Amino acid sequence: MAVTLVIGAQWGDEGKGRIVDFLSRGAHVVARFGGGSNAGHTVRVGDKTYKLRIVPSGVVAGVDHCVIGPGTVVAPGQLVAELDTLEFNGVDTSRVWVSDLAHLILPYHVELDKSAERERGEDALGTTGNGIGPAYVDRVARTGIRAGDLLDMHRARQALFARTHAIRAQGIAINLDVVAAELEEQAERIVPHIRDTVSLIHGELQAGHRVIAEGAQGSLLDVNFGTYPYVTSSVTVAGGALSGLGFGPKDVDYVIGVVKAYQTRVGGGPFPTELADKEGDELRERGAEFGVVTGRPRRCGWLDLVALRYAVQINGITHLAITKLDVLDTFYQISVCTAYEDTGKGSLPFAIARGARPVYDAMPGWLKTTVAARSWEDLPFNAREYLKFIESYVGVPVAYVSVGPERNQIIVRQDAPIGSAARVR
Ligand code: GDP
Ligand code: IMO
Ligand code: MG
Repeated sequence: MAVTLVIGAQWGDEGKGRIVDFLSRGAHVVARFGGGSNAGHTVRVGDKTYKLRIVPSGVVAGVDHCVIGPGTVVAPGQLVAELDTLEFNGVDTSRVWVSDLAHLILPYHVELDKSAERERGEDALGTTGNGIGPAYVDRVARTGIRAGDLLDMHRARQALFARTHAIRAQGIAINLDVVAAELEEQAERIVPHIRDTVSLIHGELQAGHRVIAEGAQGSLLDVNFGTYPYVTSSVTVAGGALSGLGFGPKDVDYVIGVVKAYQTRVGGGPFPTELADKEGDELRERGAEFGVVTGRPRRCGWLDLVALRYAVQINGITHLAITKLDVLDTFYQISVCTAYEDTGKGSLPFAIARGARPVYDAMPGWLKTTVAARSWEDLPFNAREYLKFIESYVGVPVAYVSVGPERNQIIVRQDAPIGSAARVR
């Protein structure tokens, strides 16, 4: 078997967690390839809601292996807390594996993140304050500390204290003795989870098992292709799965782009289809659009098909998973952005930065509840037309439609790549 990529096609929070949870039924491994605990992925099963930050969402369904890959940045204290919470809720975390190559987020990264945001003042990026950017800076500057370094605490301490001068020079007052002591304690808990995840994944692929690469953030937050500088610091697009887990393009069979039926963004930065009116409020309220990590209200607007087509291109998306269709159930008329006005030359992020004004197509709403729909035919005619419009605009099929946060509130199209009965555990 092969690797299936699940990628956020907008500005994050598309519902990747719930789609990965669904696809986990047909997989042996779920692996995170980038980002850190800036992510908040929600999986709802019955009356239980799981909020995953760095642990792959497949842990809830109980896949054989959950991998936190080499391309991620891991906050040790946060990881320990997440493992504890999962165990407390009856989820087995014994096969959550952290790549020895993953970089650590340490308390000074968090401080640096916050102080950089303060310095930016009105131009603040609106980061999640988790130290993501500074941890990736240390990685490329070759001054980072990796999870594998925890296997030899003596060396880890040395690497940590070698940072003393640089940290002070950046105006961060932090007691490295305390950091080291905490790290030592956290290491005891984490070390049993650290391993060579490259061999693990290739062993699984050779055994004919399916691996799901779980994206975090979204394509428009990608450090290269997103709305820079209002982006995160990792590669969130499909290519990041290859470099963040360690396999080749031929190992991939499907690239599933997860898309909300409308658009949201949390944090700063331009957002062409943002609605600062009653309709925006209605989307936020109906969609419960508040951040999983920070609780911040998410900015809401109409679906941006120009940006979605770009996401399809840069990721090589083969199928779409549309989530939160039910949120649109009450809208008399639904707009979709099909062009930008006067954007001049240049790539999409520059067009958006220049204040691209959206051109809308208006579609009639369906004014019926979709939450109980379980097949394509169950959907109201206008809802199907809306989905077909998206398909024809971006040129890839909609394979999954989610009509509620619950595990069973999902419609699987006939030609969807991974069906619901794929693997019986
Ligand atoms: P992720 O970061 O991409 O995994 O997405 P989040 O978990 O941050 O945000 C998605 C939110 O929408 C979560 O609260 C989910 O429970 C919820 N959700 C997911 N799919 C649906 C859906 O189809 N309908 C509704 N109403 N809520 C959904
Ligand atoms: P999931 O995986 C939505 C946003 C932040 C901020 C910018 C940079 O749940 O979809 P960072 O802390 O990464 O340096 O912040 O990126 N951001 C997200 N927005 N969903 C996420 O993750 C995000 N992760 C980061 O709000 O604008
Ligand atoms: Mg999220």
